[in-house]
Amino acid sequence: MWKKSQVGMSTQLGPFEPDSIHNGDALVYLREIPAGSIDLIITDPPFAIDFRAKKLNYNRTGGNVLEGYREIPAEDYRDFTREWVSEAFRVLSPSGSMYVFSGWNRLRDVLEAIDDAGFVTMNHIIWKYQFGVFTRKKFVTSHYHIIYAVKNPHSYIFNKVEHYPEDVWAIKREYWKGKQKTPTKLPSELVRKILKFSSNPGDIVLDPFLGSGTVAVVSSEMGRRFLGFEVVEDYYEFAKARLEEKPAGGASGQ
Ligand SMILES: C[S@@+](CC[C@H](N)C(=O)[O-])C[C@H]1O[C@@H](n2cnc3c(N)ncnc32)[C@H](O)[C@@H]1O
Repeated sequence: MWKKSQVGMSTQLGPFEPDSIHNGDALVYLREIPAGSIDLIITDPPFAIDFRAKKLNYNRTGGNVLEGYREIPAEDYRDFTREWVSEAFRVLSPSGSMYVFSGWNRLRDVLEAIDDAGFVTMNHIIWKYQFGVFTRKKFVTSHYHIIYAVKNPHSYIFNKVEHYPEDVWAIKREYWKGKQKTPTKLPSELVRKILKFSSNPGDIVLDPFLGSGTVAVVSSEMGRRFLGFEVVEDYYEFAKARLEEKPAGGASGQ
């Protein structure tokens, strides 16, 4: 079962219960996680883009998009990224791995933070998606970068579930027609793929920037344990409702 924020009890995750999500600042919560207690981090942090300016692109169905997305001011983005990435390194187990999503605009900060924290980058994956915006004088951006990094390149989980796993993944975004949604949301298929390759049932998966909670929901469906943080209350509530819809400890195992 997923559990709401329970602070004060001592577990292998410090004050947090396994299979719980929490409404608050990831930079604060990350510091409370004991070193070496997380098996896998999958996260899609804020990108330091101006969401109001981009609203036309994202807000396809007007009133269904939940407002309030928390962005990081551009001038703070480098420090913000360095701070959470170094905490991510600390909380990962010695054989842990991390997948970080990044747009191209602040990719430099993300790559530097990952190197400087001590991670070894194994792959630079391109997620190719469809994005039907009209551009007049430049190409339409239709990819994200996913940095796949490990703590120890001699010991980490990589379940070779595909014969020739390639580093360009063409996966469609999910459009939830008519439903309430957050402005960005990872497709479940993408998260499922990462979980299959880089975790086993029972592993603890962390997403410090939950948004709509896809990483927690899919982890739960696949029998992984999860921990997640989201600073915007409406998004946290949205993620919580999604988790409540799903029975945890799913049968879809591997
Ligand atoms: C790109 S979105 C994540 C989308 C998510 N992967 C999904 O599938 O819905 C980044 C999220 O980080 C949240 N956020 C920004 N700063 C935060 C912080 N300091 N602590 C926790 N969450 C934060 C934003 O509100 C936003 O929901």
